[in-house]
Amino acid sequence: MSHITIQGGSRLEGTLAVQGAKNSVLPILAAAILHPGRTVLRGCPHLSDVESSIRILRHLGCRVDWEGGDLVIDASGLSRWDIPDHLMREMRSSVVFLGSILARTGWAELSHPGGCELGPRPIDMHLSALRQLGADIREEGGFLRCTAQHMTGREITLSMPSVGATENAMLAACGAQGETVLVNAAREPEIADLQAFLCGMGCQVKGAGSSTICIQGRQPTHDVCHTVMPDRIVAATYLAAAAAAGGEIELRQIQHSHLSTVTAALHAAGCQIYSGPGQTVLRSEGRLHSAGTVRTAPYPGFPTDAQAILMAALLRGEGATVFVENIFENRYRHVDELCRMGADISVAGRVAVVTGVPALYGAQVRCTDLRGGAALMVAGLAAQGETRIGDIFHIQRGYEDPVGDLRALGADIRMS
Ligand code: UD1
Repeated sequence: MSHITIQGGSRLEGTLAVQGAKNSVLPILAAAILHPGRTVLRGCPHLSDVESSIRILRHLGCRVDWEGGDLVIDASGLSRWDIPDHLMREMRSSVVFLGSILARTGWAELSHPGGCELGPRPIDMHLSALRQLGADIREEGGFLRCTAQHMTGREITLSMPSVGATENAMLAACGAQGETVLVNAAREPEIADLQAFLCGMGCQVKGAGSSTICIQGRQPTHDVCHTVMPDRIVAATYLAAAAAAGGEIELRQIQHSHLSTVTAALHAAGCQIYSGPGQTVLRSEGRLHSAGTVRTAPYPGFPTDAQAILMAALLRGEGATVFVENIFENRYRHVDELCRMGADISVAGRVAVVTGVPALYGAQVRCTDLRGGAALMVAGLAAQGETRIGDIFHIQRGYEDPVGDLRALGADIRMS
């Protein structure tokens, strides 16, 4: 089992291009089956979650090949509408295939994705949206058996702006007759990227990025080549790393407007930040101060996926920072690991209070989830001595080459 080992204390300096976004490419891979033809994805990150999606696509009968840096999918041979349990269990977001399989074939059979390391993750809003379009969905013994021969577009109001439910409803609506209007849709940039991809195939979708999305049901008409948007959470991770370790880094290939709440918090904590088209520069002396209160919220609010990462950057900050986690019930599992490194964090329900300590110390720690694992890397870079991080398969779900990237910025970090 491999580990990431970090010798803390190096300042980070240099320039980095940010990988394509995991949370954008996963729904796009599900969307690729809508068109019985070819999809070329540029900038598709090499991630274990992408590999899981590729296994699902191949199981469904698609041809999928890496051609240089591009991922090429040919969905003309799609011949199945089921996803076996072992493939569903690899990745919770595989549930977004439900909408696209139904739209393409009118049938779908897959197992319930269940809970995950962030706590219970129900899919009631996904199922409600698909039922409102006319899908008949039976839940039997952990399995979902769905029929949707005649889906019809209509207005659907989500009870909260769930990212996955918005994506699933968009994909299913492409296969419905007439217009679907999604009200209270999630506004995350990854949804706008999905819309751009669908439009590239010839679907008619508009409004993504706002809370009302309109989809005219119609079969996609053409092959598509799409460049995946940059990963704003990976960008946030490297900014937080430089903030914690000190130094000056420039990130390229990013949309700084996607990161505004994260950079605002880092600025409040004492970092200097400059943004221009496609780039952001962060300069930090390494010792920060409180960022006040940070509340996670749906986009454009502070992303829950950056909560652990920002927390790690502030562990040595002067004063106390309060985190309020409003999206997931159980998103402080990284706290115990950070405390092993000398952090002072107290948690009560959805609130965590971080009181800055003079120093962090390297320790043996374990990833509890993807972003919690990234937080351990950030803390390790700012700690004295050696940090050895285990269970790094969590990190590999969302980071293409964190060791290579951080080494390129001057960190003393290696796989062992
Ligand atoms: C997506 C992201 C994840 C991010 C999250 C919130 C992907 C692959 N994952 O996850 O990285 O942390 O958005 O920004 O894009 N909920 C329900 N019923 C539902 C659906 C959701 O109660 O049917 C709840 C969830 O339990 C959670 C909240 O709504 O508490 C937000 O979840 P959602 O926006 O759906 O997140 P995901 O799409 O799962």
